Order: sequence, then C-alpha cells, then structure tokens
Amino acid sequence: MAWITKNSAETQIERRSEPYLTPQMRDELVNTYLPRYEVRKGALFPALHMIQHHYGWIPHQAMLEIAEVLDITPAEVFDTVTFYEEYWTKPKGEHLISVCRSIACEFCDATKCTEAIKAKLGIDVGETTPDNKLTLIELECIGSCGTAPAALIDEDLHENLTPARCVELIDQIQNGTYKHGGSGAIKGE
Ligand code: FES
Repeated sequence: MAWITKNSAETQIERRSEPYLTPQMRDELVNTYLPRYEVRKGALFPALHMIQHHYGWIPHQAMLEIAEVLDITPAEVFDTVTFYEEYWTKPKGEHLISVCRSIACEFCDATKCTEAIKAKLGIDVGETTPDNKLTLIELECIGSCGTAPAALIDEDLHENLTPARCVELIDQIQNGTYKHGGSGAIKGE
C-alpha cells in the first residue's frame, strides 16, 4: 500500500451561509446528548450520526460546527470521521453498491463482479455516477463467506453473485424494477 500525501495547508473548506447543524440539532445535542456524558467530547458520535443520517455525508463545515459545540479541535472530529466507514466525507449516490473484497469473495471471483459493475456504470470504485444514482465501493468481509461472492445494495445482501447477475441488478435499479430484499436481506425483514 502506498501512502498518498495531501497538501492540507492549502485545503479550502467549502462553506455555505446556512449551518449544517440546525438549531433543532444543536438543541438535541446540548440538551439530550451532552448530559449523558462526563465530557463534551463524548457526544461526538451522536453528533456525527445526526449529520450523516440527515445529509447522507459529513461536510467539512459541519465538522467545524460540531467541534465548536463540543469544544474539541476540528482535527479530532476529522480523525473520527475518516476512521469509520459509516461516515462519508463526500456525497454518495441514491443507491450504494458495496462489493466484498475479502478473501473468500476474492477466491470466488468478486473482482470480476466489481469489474463488471465498473464497466456497466463507467465509474471506478469510490465513485458515483454523474446522475448521482449509484455509488460503488468495496468492503471487507460482510459475513456471507459461505455464499461468496457477496455484495450489498444499500442494506440488501446479494449472494452467489456473478458478473451477469451484477449487471442484471444494476439494470433493475436503473429501470426502477429493483425490489429491496436481496437474496438474504440483513436488515428490515
Ligand atoms: S469474505 Fe466476502 S463475505 Fe466474507
């Protein structure tokens, strides 16, 4: 693995006049969550969940706002956001395709599935289609090694995938016939 350095000193933070942390969110954070913790920093996860679930990602401006409310440094917020896969630092598409890349799936040709999806959508891993409909990522083991290769579409588990089946599922999403549930839904059943 190669480390890629970024020139953080020249990073420009995009700002909008309206805060991401709305008055309601601030109120909930201060009056509901902060009293539960010994130190203000303890409410960092609830604050991040609020922003992530409301906007689908966590803009840098929101990280600054959270740091100010919790009286911690923006770097501490940024470190936490970038450590967990749950948190997104850029917007993602309406649907998230997550292909498992761990060893059982890799042995069972998950890479071919990923390549088929990339070719079908014309994007790379980590990218979103120009219409903001689909984002493709790879994940580590999603606990379905016995039915590898496996992938998630949003929260639906799809097992025993083939490149052709991946393309078929994308066709269904694009033409509006995709039905949530997958071949073994892991949530919401
Ligand atoms: S290795 Fe892919 S589900 Fe476990």
